[in-house]
Amino acid sequence: MLLPTSKRVIQEKDTISILRDLAVTAAARSYSPYTGLQQAVVVLLEDGATVPGVRVENASFSLTISPLINAVSTLHAIGRVDICAIVSSVPFNRSDMTYAASMPNFEWKSFTTDALTTTHDLPDPREVLSPLLPDWGDDPASGAREAREISELAHIPESDFPVGCVVRTKKGHHLPGVNVEHPDWSQILCAERNVLSTVVSYGFSDIQQIFVSCPKEPGGTPCGACRQVILELAPDATVWMDRGNEPPGSMRASELLPGHFTGDILRKRAE
Ligand code: THU
Repeated sequence: MLLPTSKRVIQEKDTISILRDLAVTAAARSYSPYTGLQQAVVVLLEDGATVPGVRVENASFSLTISPLINAVSTLHAIGRVDICAIVSSVPFNRSDMTYAASMPNFEWKSFTTDALTTTHDLPDPREVLSPLLPDWGDDPASGAREAREISELAHIPESDFPVGCVVRTKKGHHLPGVNVEHPDWSQILCAERNVLSTVVSYGFSDIQQIFVSCPKEPGGTPCGACRQVILELAPDATVWMDRGNEPPGSMRASELLPGHFTGDILRKRAE
């Protein structure tokens, strides 16, 4: 049953303010060693579950992942895009606005400086949705297979080229990533960077293994941008590539990008 309009407006404002508080709390998990900026969004789904996305910086500044892209990419990787609202801890910037405005399949009912909603009847926020996959151990063949299966969730209207990625942390947590495309190609997030930024949003750490699968190109390996981000966020990981019917191939993260840019001096300056 629909509430009278005035009550619905009050309820909507209350829900947005709860989500804003959740976003402020999530912002503390930002990875921002270069600016110190703490920024996050929280997405509200139809059943009241929430999903966070935080700012994830990189020494190569332009590879920095915004909270909005981080959260939206996480949603695709966990197969939930029933978005009711996205609320930010700070006002959205121009790039966020453009990204959201051209997200296919979403009709925003309200689009303010820090909150987007697809409906005026927002559910009450409940628990944070877990991104965790079942723990199948640390067998590389199982990891590669899981990454291949996850690639089915890729959002690929531009390329029709699915990529799946799974990371395993030292504590045995498994998280998923897929490539998430956007009409503006500069805003596309690869599967590897998707899962690495999800790890940060949820406060996991110590990535030990990264499994990558490009089912349409079984020899596929991480792109240069992903290699740079892997080196910064998972320098001790082993990267496993799905080879289809062959056993997966592997590389140490340290072998991915010889002589890579570390940005150490920039980091010291910000501290
Ligand atoms: N892609 C990835 O997800 N990971 C890579 O390492 C290489 C490329 C995606 C990005 C884009 O959606 C599509 O594959 C074609 O480049």
